[in-house]
Amino acid sequence: MTEGNQTVISWFLLLGLPIPPEHQHLFYALFMAMYLTTILGNLIIIILIQLDSHLHTPMYSFLSNLSFSDLCFSSVTMPKLLQNMQSQVPSIPYAGCLTQMYFFLLFGDLESFLLVAMAYDRYVAICFPLHYTSIMSPKLCVSLVLLSWVLTTFHAMLHTLLMARLSFCEDNVIPHFFCDMSALLKLSCSDTHVNELVIFITGGLVLVIPFVLILVSYARIVATILKVPSAQGIHKAFSTCGSHLSVVSLSYGTVIGLYLCSSSNHSTVKESVMAMMFTVVNPMLNPFIYSLRNRDIKGALGRVFCKKKMMI
Ligand SMILES: *[C@@H]1O[C@H](CO)[C@@H](O)[C@H](O)[C@H]1NC(C)=O
Repeated sequence: MTEGNQTVISWFLLLGLPIPPEHQHLFYALFMAMYLTTILGNLIIIILIQLDSHLHTPMYSFLSNLSFSDLCFSSVTMPKLLQNMQSQVPSIPYAGCLTQMYFFLLFGDLESFLLVAMAYDRYVAICFPLHYTSIMSPKLCVSLVLLSWVLTTFHAMLHTLLMARLSFCEDNVIPHFFCDMSALLKLSCSDTHVNELVIFITGGLVLVIPFVLILVSYARIVATILKVPSAQGIHKAFSTCGSHLSVVSLSYGTVIGLYLCSSSNHSTVKESVMAMMFTVVNPMLNPFIYSLRNRDIKGALGRVFCKKKMMI
């Protein structure tokens, strides 16, 4: 687009959320509270799972990984958002922007892969209850987690390197509260066809394949339950899978909403609100969805605190 005087851009301006100035303080307090809740809720889950030996099962080790991923995911965007809400010039250096994009993709995908691992774990537990311990061996659990990390690292690295190739000329205003990949592509003055193609292909792989795998796992769980319909079996299956399904629908619902929204019209307000849901509200709600409905976690809370009391 712009020829000639190519000034190299060394920082971007993050416009943040479209909040009227008179409400800035209110929203600052709200986001701060949400961020602290996310950190605290997920930390409690991780610590409980480490401390309580009743929770040393594949399902809870995946859940602990998911909490870790949620914690990191919201820490990629929230501290910068909070800092920028307080500063006069909400800027981010070029390297910081790419770093943020890298970790945003890394932890965002990691969550999606961990949800697949959790769905598979429930599938084995309900469809092959007698072989559960031999199938879900510690070795398989570690391999699934490692595979998730390798795939997401590769995916995030690929997009970040492709982005680093592009040049940015004059426009450095990002109409978003974090360095969003599509917002950055719109600002670039290089040819972005390769980037768009890679996003299209890998986006499909990284979103659609996990989603299909999760759907298949739960479909087979439902089929197994319906084969021998006993009130007790149905209750047991729903109590373990209900919370997983709520998390899956929450995550994929917002992601799909985000992409449908951003492709139909470029309303940045709607996009920011959806992105807010995805990056802030989901990581905050996940620990509550798991622990409020979950007797094991409640039991562990009781045991861990009682032990503390007895030691004192
Ligand atoms: C993640 O899962 C692996 C494999 O089950 C486990 O060894 C590890 O402790 C978990 N990490 C966290 C942070 O929970």
